[in-house]
Amino acid sequence: MKRTHNNNQLTLANLKETVVLKGWVQKTRNLGGLLFIDLRDRFGITQLVSRPQGPTYETALKLKSEYVIEVQGIVLERESKNKHVPTGDIEIDLVELSILSTSDTPPMIVSNQTDALEETRLKYRYLDLRRPVMQSFLINRHHIVQSIRSTLVDDGFYELETPILGKSTPEGARDYLVPSRLYPGTFYALPQSPQIYKQLFMIAGFEKYFQVARCFRDEDLRADRQPEFTQIDIEASFVDEEDLYDITEKIMRDVFKKVLGLEIKTPFPRMTYKTAIETYGTDKPDTRYGLHLVDYTDQFKDYDIPLFAGKETIRGIKVDDQSIFTRKVIDELSAHVKKHHGDALATLKVNQGALSGSLQKFIGEMTPDALGLEEGNLLFLVPGTFDDVTQSLGALRTQLAEKLSLIDSNRFDFLWVTDWPLLEYDHDEQRFYARHHPFTAPDDPEVLKTSPIHAMAKAYDIVLNGYEIGGGSIRIHDQKTQSLMFETLGLKDEDVRSRFGFFVDALKYGTPPHGGIALGLDRIVMLMTKTDNIKDVIAFPKTQSAKDLMMQAPSDVDQKQLTELKIKAGE
Ligand code: AMO
Repeated sequence: MKRTHNNNQLTLANLKETVVLKGWVQKTRNLGGLLFIDLRDRFGITQLVSRPQGPTYETALKLKSEYVIEVQGIVLERESKNKHVPTGDIEIDLVELSILSTSDTPPMIVSNQTDALEETRLKYRYLDLRRPVMQSFLINRHHIVQSIRSTLVDDGFYELETPILGKSTPEGARDYLVPSRLYPGTFYALPQSPQIYKQLFMIAGFEKYFQVARCFRDEDLRADRQPEFTQIDIEASFVDEEDLYDITEKIMRDVFKKVLGLEIKTPFPRMTYKTAIETYGTDKPDTRYGLHLVDYTDQFKDYDIPLFAGKETIRGIKVDDQSIFTRKVIDELSAHVKKHHGDALATLKVNQGALSGSLQKFIGEMTPDALGLEEGNLLFLVPGTFDDVTQSLGALRTQLAEKLSLIDSNRFDFLWVTDWPLLEYDHDEQRFYARHHPFTAPDDPEVLKTSPIHAMAKAYDIVLNGYEIGGGSIRIHDQKTQSLMFETLGLKDEDVRSRFGFFVDALKYGTPPHGGIALGLDRIVMLMTKTDNIKDVIAFPKTQSAKDLMMQAPSDVDQKQLTELKIKAGE
């Protein structure tokens, strides 16, 4: 029988029509002999009714949850209507019913509300994905990708693919390696991103490239990180930073309009990396709320406070209302600060015009005014090095915002973070690392030569509600600067030759100025669908410990496969 309608379509307008529906049995109810069946497909639910002595009753009695059925029947008006579903005014009086597929009792209930453990959901992902809420996440993902594609294609970008089996390129994380059978002892690396390939497309003259690119990084996982994830990878020639801001903002404007019906304001605000760290304690600030970090070093420098003695800086965050901050809450916050490298958390309150708290006995007559505080305020202070203080206050800031319910979940606050340092120095290893990657152009190559620690990058990150949703840069396009960069990173000539020789060679043959960006698709979908777990928007994700519970990967392989690869396992 050919399906005539989906399960969200039929209304009173279809009364008396004979229809054919297909789908899964959501549930059955036997009421006074009448058997009601909720039939579900990807579109919605329709109520079916099978009557005793009717042609379908005997089969209907055999139905269980998740059986797949095909029915024919007549649309009738329902006695008790359901306002919550589009088909709630009607039901289908069954004339024919066939079972297309039976189902064992599922290990989890297929409905939006589930108390199934994450382990069960991941093991039986195909059942988890049957839940309408999960389907809506992936359907949104589809619409988001289609929208981004169409913005880029309309703007003249070509969608081009790059290899998955490639060579290790430095993106900062550990590579996933694939052993070569033909060349035992050698390995392909899965791409951490198509960075070098996309630059080679520019050298090859394509001018505008994009790819929905799968990337692989063997790094510690978090709620917004997966070992394999998807980037919208973009590169263009003859562009500057402004061109890349423009196209990214256009992508975001279009996708929010098409998928969520929201007009988002562009251009997005911009903030330097330095301001982000000083004011928000992070390079990806959530700007939906204030709670700015303030430098109080000067205000305390003339007081003899043991906790602050000899510390590089003393910074803090002020909250207006101290009422929810009991001893217990402050102790929790203090532990949180210490977990994020803060030395200690001190507090000062303003009550009846005077300062009180643990520091009070050391600060004598200091007035609330001197610290910019008003009646009822509470000030959290952390002493220490600049890096530790800002990092721990950044972590405290998000906790405070949650506790004070300052986060408006209906807002989407975009931000460009600009003016990044090009390098960072690793004191343990006594060498520089590239903050983005070694192909990022310095603002001024002369500074890179003479004072690398002060070199700034032509790099930018895009942040949405405190998540880094993308990053990119203008690239080095001349061999001399690229060599200087590798040299500054401590790479020996022979390392450069063996790892990037092909790329350094390519730079010699007429490389146009170029730049690009990669957007983290999974994070964008996660934020647009308002979940806080990246796994929700990836069809078959890995666990926090990088396992695929459904397929049981990673797994042992046959000895024969290992022998072919000349690999001994477990050593
Ligand atoms: P970057 O490493 O900043 O840049 O990655 C770009 C964006 O990809 C997302 N992302 C991730 N999403 C989920 N799980 C992960 N493990 C993960 N790692 C990164 C983030 C991030 O902003 N080649 C450069 C881009 C360029 O310079 O053009 C790159 O890969 O949203």
